[in-house]
Amino acid sequence: MNSSTKQIIAVAGCKGGVGKTLIAVNLALSLANNGRRVVLMDGNLAVPDVGISLGLEKNLNVERQKEGQDIANFIKEGPSGVHVLTPLGQPIWRETVETGQAVRMIESLESLSPSLDTLIIDTAPGLAPDNIALIQAAGEILIVLNQEVLSLLDSVRLIRLLYREYGVRRFNVVVNAVSNRRYGSNQFERLQNHLSDEVAIILRYQGAVPFDKAVAESLSRQKALLESSPDCRASKAINRIAQQIMAAPVTPPRGRIEFFLPARISERV
Ligand SMILES: Nc1ncnc2c1ncn2[C@@H]1O[C@H](COP(=O)(O)OP(=O)(O)OP(=O)(O)O)[C@@H](O)[C@H]1O
Ligand SMILES: [Mg+2]
Repeated sequence: MNSSTKQIIAVAGCKGGVGKTLIAVNLALSLANNGRRVVLMDGNLAVPDVGISLGLEKNLNVERQKEGQDIANFIKEGPSGVHVLTPLGQPIWRETVETGQAVRMIESLESLSPSLDTLIIDTAPGLAPDNIALIQAAGEILIVLNQEVLSLLDSVRLIRLLYREYGVRRFNVVVNAVSNRRYGSNQFERLQNHLSDEVAIILRYQGAVPFDKAVAESLSRQKALLESSPDCRASKAINRIAQQIMAAPVTPPRGRIEFFLPARISERV
């Protein structure tokens, strides 16, 4: 990857609990293990899970008590050298999640920007305008769905909305927690069929991640799956997805949020 090229990937999926955080966290680790210099941002400020799933919260709680309400220090060192950009401490009460917070978080990238090349954003479920604005701003969007019908139909909604409101045409797709690889490709075909009326939309299947009990085990240990079970089936599947992403050309950010250009971000968020 050219040192001046920056890649932003938003991991998104309208439905809650489909595995967005699992994929975002472990994709970030996999890319870092392959030499990428990665920032992993928790874009779900109201319910930030990334720090918890990596066990970073344990230390952060102490720091938060010391710092009171000061949440200016957002970047933490995660596994595999991944820089984790997350609000500190306990989940923040809704009324404290303000525009300024997201701006300050993203601005905290500034000091790191020259040495980093990849930003993975774990996003919130749902179609709330601020979430959609964050998702569309990335150069690349990785849609995560599972094999259930609600997840399929919610993904259709999300993709239509991103296309109609923001003109996003390209989507990478992962089907997570499948009991059989065939279910993944079948679900992808259903997604294509549901969106066949939007001829400009291009969906690219990046593969399936199997349902794997190692996922729950890693969460209970508050370790990334790739760290706690690097050879499990789900880890291998995520590594394959990372390889495909690294082999594909990078699509630059779309301009509403520019990687490592905080001034522009501040104007827009
Ligand atoms: N491949 C998998 N195998 C087994 N369990 C999984 C898998 N993917 C996700 N899970 C389970 O599903 C739960 C939800 O996963 P995750 O938190 O990554 O979803 P999410 O889409 O980020 O949820 P939210 O919408 O709440 O942010 C996890 O607690 C995990 O136990
Ligand atoms: Mg999540």
